[in-house]
Amino acid sequence: METEINELRAQALPHGVASATTSIIASANNATIIDTEGREYIDFAAGIGTMNVGHSHPRVLAAAHAQLDRFAHTCVHIFGYEAYIRLAAKMNEKAPGTSPKRSYFVNSGAEAVENAVKIARCATGRPGIVAFDNAFHGRTNLTMGLTSKIAPYKKNFGPYTPEIHRIPYAYCYRCPLNLTYPACGVECAELLRRGFDNYFQADKIACVIAEPVQGEGGFIVPPPEYHSRLKAICEEQGILFIADEIQTGFGRTGRLFAMEHYGVEADIMTTAKSLGAGYPIAGITGKAEVMDAPHPGGIGGTFGGNPLGCEVALEVIAIMEEERLPERANEIGRRVRERFIAMQQRFPVIGDVRGLGAMMAMELVEDRDTKKPATDLTKAYRAKLFANGLANLQAGTYDNVIRTLMPLTIEWETLQRGLDIMEETLAQVTAAS
Ligand SMILES: Cc1ncc(COP(=O)(O)O)c(C=O)c1O
Repeated sequence: METEINELRAQALPHGVASATTSIIASANNATIIDTEGREYIDFAAGIGTMNVGHSHPRVLAAAHAQLDRFAHTCVHIFGYEAYIRLAAKMNEKAPGTSPKRSYFVNSGAEAVENAVKIARCATGRPGIVAFDNAFHGRTNLTMGLTSKIAPYKKNFGPYTPEIHRIPYAYCYRCPLNLTYPACGVECAELLRRGFDNYFQADKIACVIAEPVQGEGGFIVPPPEYHSRLKAICEEQGILFIADEIQTGFGRTGRLFAMEHYGVEADIMTTAKSLGAGYPIAGITGKAEVMDAPHPGGIGGTFGGNPLGCEVALEVIAIMEEERLPERANEIGRRVRERFIAMQQRFPVIGDVRGLGAMMAMELVEDRDTKKPATDLTKAYRAKLFANGLANLQAGTYDNVIRTLMPLTIEWETLQRGLDIMEETLAQVTAAS
């Protein structure tokens, strides 16, 4: 079965649609995936962070089934439906900060980012966008431009959208200013101000877009003061601050949204991934005065906020609260961190252990002094982890970071087994290298 489907895949799909494994999924439950050959995987990848409530959560299934029997789609621009409107109200209530909010829904993370930028430009009448080194915001033309990694995301796909400017992010393990926290005084936040003098005119900048913790860039956690410093500089210049919570959102970091850790109320926030527990839905939530800038008909789309996605998303938010998943994320993160730190003592290849809540990662280096990325070893580690039954993901500009995105509902015993596989497998690949 697997061989036959993979042969068909080779003929039917373009090479550009890559896959980490040749396994073909048969079923998934909570943090366990079973493929068509009967192999079992512990899922530390979770659809790239879409399954925070776990695969096949009974309440998600019930909400989806109930909606299937009612109607499929009307398009919110023709007939309103209750779940869309209730979800918007719920997102407004849950988004960090006290300002009155508005929300609407689209189909994917990249589309949410496109919309956030569009609204920021409309609200400010300015064209420019500032994004960061190691950023990932999607694969459409605008979001590919905002993304910072060349291979595989941007290579040969130019030209990119104009008016995108880039500054370094607060990457303490590889500090762009060669300083050390806290003695550095978080000087890297001032690079935005330095940009106004050297690279871009402040009053032509509509927005700064930042991931609260960088995801694809390698789970880079900035110092606690970083985002509030950036936000303050934005306010001085009439620039809007967009928080891209697409990977950090929905409990992953130990709060419903990661900006809550930093006490920052973004002007616009983007969400996707775990909002829909596997169903394609994404959200744009922002301050009412900003979100109301576009004229009627200026924003939206045919499928945006489809009824199935909205019903599921409402259920996801209820599950997050009732099962206290943000708290669980903190306990998962504590256990993963403890294990990774123990592993760091055993394996010199682990240069850095970092993360926030259950968004944990290890950065692999050839040498702890030079910090040369151990890209080949990370690739071998990742492949062997799959072979040993652990679905996992790489990250980082140099593909030398292994990150964990397990469901926040993972059973403790399954988490433990997954961490055991990580340690045993690293022993195997380092012995072989
Ligand atoms: C922070 C962030 N923004 C945007 C995106 C793009 O989302 P999508 O793949 O749904 O377009 C991602 C996806 O990984 C992401 O992590």
